[in-house]
Amino acid sequence: MAEQVSSSPFLRPFFLKTPLRVSSPLRQRRHTLPASEFRNLTPQDAISVFEIEREAFISVSGECPLTLDEVLNFLGQCPELSMGWFEEGQLVAFIIGSGWDKETLAQEAMTTHIPDSQTVHIHVLSVHRHCRQQGKGSILLWRYLQYLRCLPRLRRALLVCEEFLVPFYQKAGFKEKGPSAITVGALSFMEMEYQLGGLAYARRNSGC
Ligand SMILES: CC(C)(COP(=O)(O)OP(=O)(O)OC[C@H]1O[C@@H](n2cnc3c(N)ncnc32)[C@H](O)[C@@H]1OP(=O)(O)O)[C@@H](O)C(=O)NCCC(=O)NCCS
Repeated sequence: MAEQVSSSPFLRPFFLKTPLRVSSPLRQRRHTLPASEFRNLTPQDAISVFEIEREAFISVSGECPLTLDEVLNFLGQCPELSMGWFEEGQLVAFIIGSGWDKETLAQEAMTTHIPDSQTVHIHVLSVHRHCRQQGKGSILLWRYLQYLRCLPRLRRALLVCEEFLVPFYQKAGFKEKGPSAITVGALSFMEMEYQLGGLAYARRNSGC
């Protein structure tokens, strides 16, 4: 998993498999979509993002971490802090983050992006329901964290999650910080922190 990550603030798409070259225009169209691609999201992806999010959360808790407007806002303001996993052009999993500038996450972090900050607030990680329990959530999170390591200034990632997902994030290297001040409806959360280690570390170890 040693893909090169661009030194520009944006993630250039990278493919796990080279698209096939075929002669007929129809087949060519069919095969130009890469089998698997990771890239930053744009506002044009907001509807696909929200479809996955709505299915994942509304049916379970009645609440979505981000409304469609908030998705659009964050993908407009800080697309470089998002990552989508596309298979054959279809979004199968995504992460949306924004900048934050305080030690812990506060309610206002749910709707705010602080530019040029050292902390990324991961608002949501979600995998399409047909693709869960296949390792995709863990793989996307790992790639995202490796990518963040290469962005200048960033020092850590914070998120809040329900208690039952604490082991999932611990396996990815997050440490539990304790109960969060954030609530959504009747839901309460644990705050988790991941140290990104700094650019010098990233340059030495992951070819930024
Ligand atoms: C949570 C989520 C992102 C995990 O992605 P995934 O691709 O399904 O997970 P992976 O296959 O990489 O890893 C599986 C591990 O995730 C954890 N996990 C996933 N869903 C879980 C759940 N509902 N309850 C408890 N643990 C869960 C478990 O540790 C599991 O390991 P196990 O099968 O050995 O118990 C995905 O299930 C999802 O999108 N859920 C709905 C949205 C959500 O809750 N997002 C997280 C909060 S922002």
